[in-house]
Amino acid sequence: MLQRIETVELANKKVHAIYFSPARSTKKIVEAIASGISGEFMVHDITQGLHHPIELTSSDIVVVGVPAFSGRVPELAAQYISQIKGNGARAIVACAYGNCHYENTLSELSNICVKAGFVPISSGAFVSRHSLFPELGKGRPDARDLENAQQFGKKSVMHSRLMNGGVFKLDSSISSRAQGVVPPVVKANADCNFCGRCVQACPVGAIDASNPKKTDREACISCTRCIDVCPYGARQFSGLMYMITKKRFVDKNKERKEIEVNIPL
Ligand SMILES: Cc1cc2nc3c(=O)[nH]c(=O)nc-3n(C[C@H](O)[C@H](O)[C@H](O)COP(=O)(O)O)c2cc1C
Ligand code: SF4
Ligand code: SF4
Repeated sequence: MLQRIETVELANKKVHAIYFSPARSTKKIVEAIASGISGEFMVHDITQGLHHPIELTSSDIVVVGVPAFSGRVPELAAQYISQIKGNGARAIVACAYGNCHYENTLSELSNICVKAGFVPISSGAFVSRHSLFPELGKGRPDARDLENAQQFGKKSVMHSRLMNGGVFKLDSSISSRAQGVVPPVVKANADCNFCGRCVQACPVGAIDASNPKKTDREACISCTRCIDVCPYGARQFSGLMYMITKKRFVDKNKERKEIEVNIPL
């Protein structure tokens, strides 16, 4: 059932791109969506937390994006988004996922956004390279995905005065956080030259500053950011269990998936 909400003055709007994006695919998608919307553009990379308080207004448009981690919003991302003051800002809710399943990610993210004071106006799930198993979603988001993301942003704002009370109702069916597949901790090999980039980039401080080859297994959330930032390709998953899991995932999810969007009228 569609509900009409108060009209907002969009002429002088700010467009905020907010993302949690360890391996930078979500960033690409969020920025592409935001590029379809006119207005003053502001970027907030919250992968390592909120660098300053984010307080929005009801005339702002926000694109909020997270990756699917085991079909859920990554715990840290949930924590950080909850600290933002939405104040009625219209939110386009997006997730990136590695050509497997995004399951509860979008509904959970919508819930978090509503609780933080955003008004979700549309949602979209976008395929991207699987950061754990990079054969999946290889080359995604591609040019077509990014063009579609931009169009999605543009169309979302055309309908921004309206909100679908059915799609974005709080979904209480999302149960407590289940443990997904636990990939082995990333390890550094002999190519490491101790540059320290991964130490700085790790969202949870799991890499030893005095010896970046040491990773705290308990703290690591397997987000793959350290693999992404290492200039020497020295960090990777390895081991038999990883290889077996990778083969299983790749065999099961080879078929190309397409973007799914929801823009309530
Ligand atoms: C710990 C972890 C869990 C993941 N779980 C899923 C999943 O359940 N389904 C899926 O399709 N992709 C999954 N992925 C892949 C990511 O959602 C995908 O690679 C996404 O683009 C990562 O975003 P980023 O590049 O912004 O970090 C997972 C990746 C990681 C690191
Ligand atoms: S970024 Fe790579 S080379 Fe630099 S310390 Fe980390 S593992 Fe070593
Ligand atoms: S050590 Fe673990 S938590 Fe830290 S960046 Fe690497 S994968 Fe992410």
